Amino acid sequence: MKKNKLKKVFCGVLGTAMLCSMLPSVYAVDVPVDRTVFVSDFEDGKDVSEFTGRGGVEKIEIVTNSAHSGTSSMRVSGREKNWNGPQFLLDNKCKAGVEYTVSAWVRTEWYNQINLSMEYTDTAGERHYTNLKSVVSQGEWVEIPETKLSFSEDVKNVYVYFECNDKADIYVDDFALLVAPVHQIESDIPSLKELYSPYFKIGTAVTTSELAPQSTKDLIDKHFNSITLGNELKPDAILDRNASIAAGNDNPQVNLASAKSILNYCRDNKIPVRGHVLVWHSQTPDWFFKENYADDGEWLSKDAMLVRMENYIKNVFEAIEKEYSDVDFYAWDVVNEIWLDDGNPRQPGEQGSSGSNNSAWVKIFGDNSFVDYAFEYARKYAPEGCKLYYNDFNEYMPQKTDAIVAMANRLKEKGLIDGIGMQSHLDVNFPGVSAYKKALAKFAETGLDIQVTELDATTSDKSEAGFETQAKYYSDIMDAIMEYKDSISAVVFWGTTDDKSWRASKSPLLFNEDYTAKPAFYSIIDGLDVPDTTTSTVAPTTEASTTETTVVSSEEPTKSEGVLYGDANDDGVVDVADVVAVASYVGDNENNKLGEKGLKNADVHAVGNGITADDALAVQQYLAKIVTSLPVGE
Ligand code: GLA
Repeated sequence: MKKNKLKKVFCGVLGTAMLCSMLPSVYAVDVPVDRTVFVSDFEDGKDVSEFTGRGGVEKIEIVTNSAHSGTSSMRVSGREKNWNGPQFLLDNKCKAGVEYTVSAWVRTEWYNQINLSMEYTDTAGERHYTNLKSVVSQGEWVEIPETKLSFSEDVKNVYVYFECNDKADIYVDDFALLVAPVHQIESDIPSLKELYSPYFKIGTAVTTSELAPQSTKDLIDKHFNSITLGNELKPDAILDRNASIAAGNDNPQVNLASAKSILNYCRDNKIPVRGHVLVWHSQTPDWFFKENYADDGEWLSKDAMLVRMENYIKNVFEAIEKEYSDVDFYAWDVVNEIWLDDGNPRQPGEQGSSGSNNSAWVKIFGDNSFVDYAFEYARKYAPEGCKLYYNDFNEYMPQKTDAIVAMANRLKEKGLIDGIGMQSHLDVNFPGVSAYKKALAKFAETGLDIQVTELDATTSDKSEAGFETQAKYYSDIMDAIMEYKDSISAVVFWGTTDDKSWRASKSPLLFNEDYTAKPAFYSIIDGLDVPDTTTSTVAPTTEASTTETTVVSSEEPTKSEGVLYGDANDDGVVDVADVVAVASYVGDNENNKLGEKGLKNADVHAVGNGITADDALAVQQYLAKIVTSLPVGE
């Protein structure tokens, strides 16, 4: 039942502490089960065949003249180039969209930096290289600690490899490729999306690698009902230059491959998407504005650019309709960031260094007149029901607010715009809540919808008091947002956990690195009605049944009528708590009893064989989508 009083009341440290004590929390833990994908200590001459030489000239062998553990290790000699070294293929052992760790002990015979790196090949056949970790060996064994990696569904030939700066031999021992530790999210705190469901959607932004950890997926399942792709739908991510050149000068081609992992996840879990972004001065290559898509081509005329713009927008919507017609793109940012804080357009020019005010759009059009065309084309090609937004940051700077309002009113009169996106990249010291509220009021007056599209609020003070101040600020901002709730259809945070934020050093989000909720989380739910059932959760989907998402809640008794494989603690959902329950039962079954139903539910590996560590592993692999259904191994 909803409380009458909608406005949240923040009660400071005491209020938060009381609320926390009312809401018992399951603290995040590492799940204590086998995470092994591939490990080798290179004893007994084994496993060396799993590695190949990157240069094709290297000799890879087991040797006994040096070892970190045991008596042997893998030595790679005959390297002719810096980049030569042993590589290990991941594609056939790992799944896209899952987070793994790689660790090893390494050495060279004299002073050298050894790099652990990763390579993949994209859909255009281009190879990409990323350094994951570097260590220095002066002849001694050095540890490369567990280093996280993931890859997306559109890539192939994914390798991890070791290299070093000269032709020295590289020794490797105790190599381990593991599924990354799964932190249990706090399952019994209230769900943001449920608490705010009477008012607006609560969203988050993710990039492909941010989404890879199972815990991030669990956090999103619980709290968020809108996703923005952090980078993967921006022009530089989806423009296909070779295909565009092949299609002639007018018809830019797009390829959604880089968005695949996230969009598949949204489709499988039925999470609505905010499209971001069609027309922007940033993350749009300069060649998009030039003759023949050439770096040194002439800048296009205004008319030619309009044709390109229209076709680009058309092709984006068509590609999405073709490949993801079952994903609910309920909103699109059509144009991003065309106004400076003083209410003037950006400077004409190519993309400069970060922080530059340049816009290639302004270079071609001379002013911001391209914005009306962008909305006209978006309206023409967007599917019915997809709302169109103008999006900007520092949207509370008075002259900028006014410029946005004037533009929005003009576009509204033409029937081209549905709403204004307030990015809301804030800091606890700026802007003041009253300035933010003034902008809300002016935007609401246009009669257009408002979405808060990229909310985060940084704090330089990382002490307990600093996080309480941040909580107070978040609470005040949310109070302001709630005052205008009738004009607001979504509040989207720019990220999930602090460590993954683009402003990570100033901890701007609601969740800590270990997925526990921060004071800011509690402050924005304070005063909202907490539903009786706080564990309502989206059950993990299997790849075999990707279009079916089952919403279960502890209030639904249907689960007690049959076996729900994996649900060892018999709470109606299969989640990490079940992995912990099975693992503790196996470790100490005297003291960790599973009920009669739990025992049946937990027997997911070789059914009928009793409960073993294999059952815990099977549930974990199911959650990580390494196996697609339970039971297994029958
Ligand atoms: C702007 C953009 C976002 C994102 C952030 C920084 O706000 O709209 O897409 O790039 O900057 O991460």
